[in-house]
Parts: sequence; C-alpha cells; structure tokens
Amino acid sequence: MKGVVLAGGRGSRLLPLTKITNKHLLPVHDRPMIFFPLETLKRSGIREILIVTEGKYVPAFRKALVKFSGVKISFAVQKKPDGIAGALRLAEKFTAGENLAVILGDNIFEDSFLKEARAFRSGAQVFLKPVHDPERFGVAEVRGSKVVKIAEKPRKPKSNLAVVGLYFFDKNVFDIIRKMNPSKRGELEITDVNNFYIHRKSLNFSKIKGFWSDAGTFESLAAATKLVREKAQK
Ligand code: DAU
Repeated sequence: MKGVVLAGGRGSRLLPLTKITNKHLLPVHDRPMIFFPLETLKRSGIREILIVTEGKYVPAFRKALVKFSGVKISFAVQKKPDGIAGALRLAEKFTAGENLAVILGDNIFEDSFLKEARAFRSGAQVFLKPVHDPERFGVAEVRGSKVVKIAEKPRKPKSNLAVVGLYFFDKNVFDIIRKMNPSKRGELEITDVNNFYIHRKSLNFSKIKGFWSDAGTFESLAAATKLVREKAQK
C-alpha cells in the first residue's frame, strides 16, 4: 500500500498563523504537525509517501523533514485549495494502480493501522470515532455492520460517530473523483467519494480505539498538543 498525506488547503480556521506558514508546519507539542500523519502511516507499515501541498511551502517541508527517516517521501503541488478529493486526485500517477492509505495532514492519531492495512484488498475503508461534537465532521449513519450514509458537517447529526481523516481506497478512487462535481462550497469532497463507495456496496468501516484529534482550529490544536504532551510524559 502507498501513502498520501494531504497538506494543502487554506488553513483559514488558524488565521493569522496560516498567513505566514502552512498549517502542517505549525507545532504540535515538540514537532511540526506534518510529522504526526507521516508517523501514523509509517507505524502502519507504509514506506512510500506522497505529500500534497502548496508549491511555495515545499522547500520548508523538505527542510523540516530532512531527518525523518524510514520512508521515501515525495511531493505533489496543489495549485488551488479545491478540496480534499481535489488534492487526492493529484496522487494518481504516484499510486500507479496500487491501493492507497490517505491521511489528512491535520489528523493526530494514537493508533497504528498495520493489521487493517495488511488486510485491505479493495473498495474503501473508513475509520470511526465517537465524539461529543459530530457536527464538525463527516458523520456516519451505521445500520448493523454497514455504514449506510455519511453526512458532511450535518446540523442534525444522525449519530456521534465522526469519520476520521484516514481512508483506504483502491485504484478506482480516481475514476470516482473524475465523475464528481464540486459541493456548494466549491470543493471536491471526500465524503462524496465515500458515499459513492457506499452506493457500490464496497465501503467497510472499523472503530478506532486510541485518542484522535484534528488540529485545524485553535481549540483542537490545543487539545492535540495536550494529548501528545501527556503521552510523551508517560
Ligand atoms: O478531520 C476529519 C474531517 O476532515 C472529516 O470528518 C471530514 O469529513 C472531512 O471533510 C475533513 O473536514 P475538515 O473541514 O476538517 O477538512 P479541512 O478543510 O480542514 O481539511 C483537512 C485537511 O485536508 C487539511 O489539513 C489539508 C487537507 N486539504 C484540504 C483542502 C480543503 C488539502 O490538502 N487540500 C484542500 O484543498
């Protein structure tokens, strides 16, 4: 399996910090945010990783990652922030027909996904976590052993199960993105990709156990920093 870290976007919820740097270069406790998704993929047995980000920050990412060892890292440039699926589209050549683990650059996980990555064959897999503020996320409606629908930031969530920012896809994901239209906010949405797989009856899910946080708002960045710091001190 190959890995993709999506580290573009506007970072508008962290302004004015993101006026001067890319969100994923900001610190989470003792290292730049980008280290965390890379470490999650590495712990999950993935050795070849593409980082998708803004062109002007590629030199800063390279500098930050000089000593990040054990994985082969390359870059693709997202020219405008047209969504998570828009960024993912840029990984098609890199993927070269293999299965793909996609992680959002601002997602901090305690878990490793080695077993799940080894077991993944085809279709799509999402990971769910109960949260107290589901309206901030993609929210899964689960019936029995199946996710029947994912709603992106619903005002009235059907469950408390957030779809976290780690996804496994087979190579069909690129054909699916090609068929998609931008959402009301003008972005190609990852939730639309996942709903497409649900429609094809080829989306599975599992629940994650350890802590998880995004780090894209001041509150969640502070929460992620606290969790990482506490873990480091254990
Ligand atoms: O954190 C999990 C949530 O992430 C999911 O539950 C949602 O379904 C999913 O849509 C996403 O929601 P956010 O609104 O938090 O996504 P955000 O716009 O903050 O983007 C998350 C990461 O994706 C960001 O750190 C960088 C990357 N990204 C985003 C956009 C819009 C890109 O690389 N390019 C982009 O154009």
